[in-house]
Amino acid sequence: MANKRDNLAIVGLQWGDEGKGKIIDFLGKDFDINARFQGGPNAGHTVIRNKKKFVFHQIPAGIMNRNITGLVGAGCVLDPQVFLIELADVEKADPRVRKRLKLSKFTHLIFPYHKIIDKLREEKKGDERIGTTQRGIGPVYEDKYGRVGIRLGELLDEDRFRKKFKASLSYKNFLLMELYQSEPLDEKKVFEEYLAFGENVRDMVVDDAYYLNQEMEKGKRVLFEGAQGTFLDIDYGTYPFVTSSHTVAGGVAVGLGVAPFKVEKVLGVAKAYVTRVGAGPFPTELEGDAVESLRKKGGEFGATTGRPRRCGHFDIPLVRYGAMLNGVKEIALTKLDILDGERTVKIGKEYAGTDHFDPMSVDKAQPTYVELPGWTGPTTDVGDFSKLGVNARKYVEKIEELSGLKVSMISVGGETEAMIVR
Ligand code: GDP
Ligand code: IMO
Ligand code: MG
Repeated sequence: MANKRDNLAIVGLQWGDEGKGKIIDFLGKDFDINARFQGGPNAGHTVIRNKKKFVFHQIPAGIMNRNITGLVGAGCVLDPQVFLIELADVEKADPRVRKRLKLSKFTHLIFPYHKIIDKLREEKKGDERIGTTQRGIGPVYEDKYGRVGIRLGELLDEDRFRKKFKASLSYKNFLLMELYQSEPLDEKKVFEEYLAFGENVRDMVVDDAYYLNQEMEKGKRVLFEGAQGTFLDIDYGTYPFVTSSHTVAGGVAVGLGVAPFKVEKVLGVAKAYVTRVGAGPFPTELEGDAVESLRKKGGEFGATTGRPRRCGHFDIPLVRYGAMLNGVKEIALTKLDILDGERTVKIGKEYAGTDHFDPMSVDKAQPTYVELPGWTGPTTDVGDFSKLGVNARKYVEKIEELSGLKVSMISVGGETEAMIVR
């Protein structure tokens, strides 16, 4: 694990939903700031405390720790509606939480047209669709890189916002009507809604880079929160079946305006098996009854969209390549308890004919497996690694041996405390 005072980045090593939210909540007590560096409400990070479940889409998942200040960085995208619903939910647990939230003024805003275009475009694609979360992610990042996006800080200047919004909406309405044969949006309604949002959050808006660097200078310790997973990264993922941001640890520096060396440690989160939502290659994917049973046991339905997740065996080449991309040496292995009661457990060891994972030809990968005896469990509540059943320990040790990575944390239940730290 990281030294006591190191800044630490948490990244998913598979295709998202690895259990990052829980790990962040668990570690949050030892940090001062929890900062998101990419993605938006496509994320769904689950935290379960005292049987109450929170799913964070926009707010950093460590926020339930009262010592934490949550920061949404410039590399993120923000949907005001989603943010306000989530804020209201968190305020029920901590009415003063606003004081612990900061939003970068450089964060690009998701407008209703981004969501509509995301949805219509997916519908048009038919079988070729990516299976996006339809939260407007692709369209808002396109506007950002096309240099026509609107940023949170711009809402705070009414005249400036009006000018940009008018230009943007007239083009988007043209697209909606002419290209998608859809209804145009009401300019006044959307303008007023966003202007009011700016006023509502004015006190939270900061220059994230300046804020974070100042705080680090004062000795504050930062937990960087990745969303999605390594193989949804726009460059190193299974393109085009990816999201539109840099999910790998390199994204921290540009997404928050901090120097790369401020990311002192990176912890990878990997599920004890693999899941994926949406389309795209998945070498160790299960089919038939096996997938139904694992999905049911693991509750593998999307935290954001409720869609059934595809499920498969742990994949060593995937995780090794992911560890390389992120500089990960240690992993948090989650949902080990879900494998309790399996007669045998399989691990994808290598891909025939290749020496490493290749995101571009992974659709042709032919995994070979090792099969180990299962365990009866339960693994939840054991507390200590030495108290895990021998076959469960062997499974973890096999993953370590084949991946060359240390499994330093093992999550054995949805609740924050269900954790084995080695
Ligand atoms: P994230 O997007 O990486 O934060 O992961 P999600 O929250 O989308 O999905 C992980 C799901 O697994 C959530 O429902 C968590 O409550 C749950 N979970 C996380 N860790 C464990 C674990 O070790 N055991 C069990 N049974 N559930 C877990
Ligand atoms: P967390 O942070 C799992 C997937 C979508 C789709 C692709 C592109 O909870 O791990 P997008 O809406 O981003 O344009 O969709 O990426 N996807 C996720 N899958 N977990 C996520 O986030 C995801 N965010 C996006 O299903 O395949
Ligand atoms: Mg999720």
